[in-house]
Amino acid sequence: MLSRADQSTSRLSRGADWWRRAVVYQIYPRSFADSDADGIGDLPGITSRVDYLAALGVDAVWLSPFYPSALADGGYDVADYRDVDPRLGTLADFDAVVTALHGVGIRIVVDIVPNHTSNLHAWFQEALAAPPGSPARDRYIFRDGGGADGSEPPTDWQSMFGGSAWEQVADGQWYLHFFAIEQPDLNWENPEVREDFVRTLRFWADRGVDGFRIDVAHMLTKDLTEPLPSKAELDALPMDGSHPVIDRDDVHDIYAQWRTVFNEYDPPRSAVAEAWVERSRRPRYASAEGLGQAFNFDLLEADFDAAQFRHIVTDNLELAARSGSSTTWVLSNHDVVRHATRYGLPAPERTAAGHPTRKHGNEWLLSGGTSPVLDREAGTRRARAAALFVLGLPGSAYLYQGEELGLHEVAELSDADRQDPTFFRSPGADMGRDGCRVPLPWHASGASLGFGANGAHLPQPDWFAALAVEREEEDPDSMLSLYRRALELRDRLQSEELFEWVKTGVDDVLRFRRADGWEVVTNFGDRAFSMDLTDAVLTSSPGGPGELPAASTVWLHREPRD
Ligand code: NOJ
Repeated sequence: MLSRADQSTSRLSRGADWWRRAVVYQIYPRSFADSDADGIGDLPGITSRVDYLAALGVDAVWLSPFYPSALADGGYDVADYRDVDPRLGTLADFDAVVTALHGVGIRIVVDIVPNHTSNLHAWFQEALAAPPGSPARDRYIFRDGGGADGSEPPTDWQSMFGGSAWEQVADGQWYLHFFAIEQPDLNWENPEVREDFVRTLRFWADRGVDGFRIDVAHMLTKDLTEPLPSKAELDALPMDGSHPVIDRDDVHDIYAQWRTVFNEYDPPRSAVAEAWVERSRRPRYASAEGLGQAFNFDLLEADFDAAQFRHIVTDNLELAARSGSSTTWVLSNHDVVRHATRYGLPAPERTAAGHPTRKHGNEWLLSGGTSPVLDREAGTRRARAAALFVLGLPGSAYLYQGEELGLHEVAELSDADRQDPTFFRSPGADMGRDGCRVPLPWHASGASLGFGANGAHLPQPDWFAALAVEREEEDPDSMLSLYRRALELRDRLQSEELFEWVKTGVDDVLRFRRADGWEVVTNFGDRAFSMDLTDAVLTSSPGGPGELPAASTVWLHREPRD
């Protein structure tokens, strides 16, 4: 058994392609740990919990934005890309996080938000104070209005968060914001914008950051040649690299430049693209000349269903191979209903292309968590099985804070407590993403359950106490114990990126083989599956001898013979 110090040295020395098979733990900083009792999680809070992350066994931590922000979009409205929000700490606190994480062999990835700034960013304030046509306005996308007197928005384009994508300023011009009103889109034709982001990347890489997660990576470049198309025209255009605002081929010029910057470092800095693009176009983002890796979000939309999982795995391994990258597996993040809850709700209706017709779980959230009825136990059991399935796959796995505790989505938030702009911009239609951002329960009692010494910025429900870290640490059958064991074993069992399906003869049961005698079997069905469990090393929900119970996964390992 390696000592903690040996483990940290061996992890960090994994070299340039550490990210290919990493388990990356996403921290939503404002909801992780609050060190100064103001109800908001902060950087010293993260430092104080580094031992927890080390014991969990993750390879890297990805921090969602911790930069100065008015929180119009949970920090994705960045007012200064090279500083820390004073409520979350200082740059010295950031350095302390890096030192503490590296000290236990954990790498650090930070979020870069290049499509838009906050309206409070110095550039946007300058743009507001400057006249139309000025260089300050050219860093953003300002246009004169439509209609006879310019009082209409330039087009009928919609923001992703609902409502018009244009907002009027005092002198009558309009600016483009594809997300919240407080998130003006940058103009990536402007060389100053390009230079500034390179400066930002270097700023964090020089501070020891190992990698970057690139927000909305598919929307930076835009062809806004007049006349601008209508929304209907825009929606009808093909997504083939020539679309005016989404997934344009020329966005890759930016990433090629960033790659030269990443490669100046030793080891090269990694990057992963948040790119919601057609599957065939994802490999471009993941290429070695570009960002290197791209998120595969297919499991965020999937039911706990063998056919869907099988298709997603086959498809994504093939796609990743096309770019020479490894794939990424994501069951939850800060933008979706937690998967333990999704798996406990009835499966959503799907379009012909297989996508859910509505955001899964939204109807349940709209009802305050009463309808349809959530089967918490089934959801948790399936989440355990899905975790072992995913952690057995080649590629990297991105875990979202709290999934290792089996947290469910919080539906009990009152309208007054909600913070997410998607709730405010779509009244009555979208409850927003606050329910997966409720601060973590560390203790089973006390103010904010050990998150901090006072309340939490989003109130925790009573049932969080049973899922507190201190409770789960003592329980060998808890979700936390399962994740710890799985990560430790994965670290030992994982070698080559080999993957092969093995026939089971039953549609609901998937089995795959990895290198060196490691196999994973998941029973997605609702009846036990008879199989030889002699080589079982880990089971998500153990059953009787010789059977893999319903909704469970087993890892098998047989030492290869010489
Ligand atoms: C994607 C992020 O994950 C989400 O939280 C954010 O609202 C949008 N990008 C806009 O930055």
